[in-house]
Amino acid sequence: MKIDVLLGLQWGDEGKGKIVDVLTPVYDIIARFQGGPNAGHTLEFNNIKHVLHTIPSGIFHPDKINVIGNGVVVDPVILKDEIIKAEKIGADLKSNLYISKKAQLILPSHRLLDKAFEEAKGKNKIGSTLKGIGPAYTDKTSRRGLRAGDIFNYAFKEKYDCSVAHHEKIFDGYGFTERNKDYEKQWFEAIEFLKMFKFIDSEKFINDSLSEGKTILAEGAQGALLDIDFGSYPFVTSSNTTTSGVCTGLGVSPHKVGNVIGICKAYCTRVGSGPFPSELFDNDGQTLRDNGHEYGSTTGRPRRCGWLDMVALKYSIMLNGVTALVITKADVMSGFDKIKVATAYKVNGEIIDYVPYEITDDIEPVYTELPGWKSDITKCKSKSDLPAELISYLDYIEKETGVKVDYLSVGPDRTQTIKL
Ligand code: GDP
Ligand code: IMO
Ligand code: MG
Repeated sequence: MKIDVLLGLQWGDEGKGKIVDVLTPVYDIIARFQGGPNAGHTLEFNNIKHVLHTIPSGIFHPDKINVIGNGVVVDPVILKDEIIKAEKIGADLKSNLYISKKAQLILPSHRLLDKAFEEAKGKNKIGSTLKGIGPAYTDKTSRRGLRAGDIFNYAFKEKYDCSVAHHEKIFDGYGFTERNKDYEKQWFEAIEFLKMFKFIDSEKFINDSLSEGKTILAEGAQGALLDIDFGSYPFVTSSNTTTSGVCTGLGVSPHKVGNVIGICKAYCTRVGSGPFPSELFDNDGQTLRDNGHEYGSTTGRPRRCGWLDMVALKYSIMLNGVTALVITKADVMSGFDKIKVATAYKVNGEIIDYVPYEITDDIEPVYTELPGWKSDITKCKSKSDLPAELISYLDYIEKETGVKVDYLSVGPDRTQTIKL
């Protein structure tokens, strides 16, 4: 068996959580491979709206195993809170959640470091979610991180103190005096709480499961344009959000990667700083924000909105080897007379059709205009119910990208999903 992958093709918040939840019935195992609680994956079913940060989005289906992979960074306080909330609505976390012993821990001081670094950046802030993601990955690569499996080690507190002593030196250098003893207390309580759950060698579990013929879906966090290598650096997150991250974040060989499902909004959003060529600053942008309730699932910040960027989408499809597309939030675009798609960029008078080394404010998008659709599509159940203009838009996306659109999402609920 091969492992399928589902990931975001834009700047995150494409609707990954919803689509993982919809596809879970055809898989045995759902596994997160990177990122941490900077993610906010929303699911809606039976009039319940639920936001997951660390737990994979298959958790509300009984008898499906959900793995937090080695590539993930885990904040015990946030994970404990998520577990308690998910248990309240009936999920069986004790049986169905497995945590990789090799996942890295986010320490309370990582969150403070995130804050100290952002404050020191002045005007050039990344707009981080301040969950400690960058500092935790930094400690991983500089080989001083604490791993989830360490919580069972008698020398855990000693290792923790050693990391904090290192962080204190950095705080001194920045003149950063804020500390959060209360969070530290909660953190150690959460560590004790988590000991009730299953900690595993996830790379062995994943590979054994594939050998046994089990079906696995790897769930990405963030989006390709926030990838540490290929995103709009430095306005990116600190992990590989692209398909390659599945190999390192779960321990599977590239030969074992199967279908790659790319999730893309019918338009674009971005939260935090960084370039966004097709961003709208007018009423159309506000309409997308209002109709799409475009406010961050993790931080509540308003999301920046703009038209679909075909140049960036093609780049993401190339990086990820996308084999199928899912277009979400098509319902949010109902009501426009005309819609636009950025099909090229104008840089210093020259037209280019690829993502350049650096996207600066001088980039002007070149738009293609298409007819919009007016009707409410939130109750549509099949392709034949959809307005002709929307079908043309999907045909256009397929023609431009060379990838088939397999599903269309027409609302936040599980049931508002059309197989095309
Ligand atoms: P993720 O991070 O990719 O899982 O996406 P988020 O959950 O952060 O953001 C997507 C938001 O859009 C959530 O509030 C979802 O409930 C909502 N959503 C997902 N698909 C659709 C859709 O097709 N239409 C509408 N209107 N909302 C959707
Ligand atoms: P999901 O999985 C949208 C953005 C932040 C910031 C940058 C770096 O829900 O799609 P970080 O906290 O990693 O230091 O932030 O990346 N960002 C996201 N934007 N969705 C996300 O996750 C994001 N995770 C991080 O806003 O610009
Ligand atoms: Mg999100």
